[in-house]
Amino acid sequence: MPDTPREDLPTPDIIVVMGVSGSGKTTVATGIATALGWQFAEGDDFHPEANVAKMRSGQPLTDDDRWPWLETIGRWISAREAAGESAVVTCSALRRAYRDVLRRDRPHVRFLHVEAPGAVIADRVEHRAGHYMPPSLLPSQLATLEPLAPDEPGVSVTTEGEPTEVRDRCLIALGRRAG
Ligand SMILES: Nc1ncnc2c1ncn2[C@@H]1O[C@H](COP(=O)(O)OP(=O)(O)O)[C@@H](O)[C@H]1O
Ligand SMILES: [Mg+2]
Repeated sequence: MPDTPREDLPTPDIIVVMGVSGSGKTTVATGIATALGWQFAEGDDFHPEANVAKMRSGQPLTDDDRWPWLETIGRWISAREAAGESAVVTCSALRRAYRDVLRRDRPHVRFLHVEAPGAVIADRVEHRAGHYMPPSLLPSQLATLEPLAPDEPGVSVTTEGEPTEVRDRCLIALGRRAG
């Protein structure tokens, strides 16, 4: 089946892959970007050094730590919109208030919430190498998470299963591949 995009989909299409640390955002987002030939950015890379140091030491970020980070991601999205480029960017975006910052004045943004049972995420994070987010932050991440509300643009997909299977499920949920 060819990957024919639906004609009613926004152009450019900006997908923010959201979810708790270890839910599979990076894996899904790179899979989508590669499959569709879209621009890709890792939201974590936009954190100022002070935020990274905090997370490394196992301290949760405060909202005041997050606003400038979200604005930086938003500027990257705006640049893609201005260039007419579809894109996928990871950002935990756990709270609605954070998502509202990303969406404000950016009509092409929609969310892909990647989810898995806590035990699955904990197991993955235990085995993940070279990442600054320690497994001990998972409970606070899950407590902070506000799932997508009905009036927010986006879809939720489980990341249980093989990465390619998960990617294909996401493409279908986004209307970017026939089901
Ligand atoms: N579908 C999957 N099956 C098995 N392991 C996965 C799957 N998706 C992601 N992982 C692994 O789980 C860990 C967390 O995934 P990652 O994409 O880095 O999550 P996030 O970006 O949300 O923190 C990584 O080590 C990754 O390789
Ligand atoms: Mg990641």
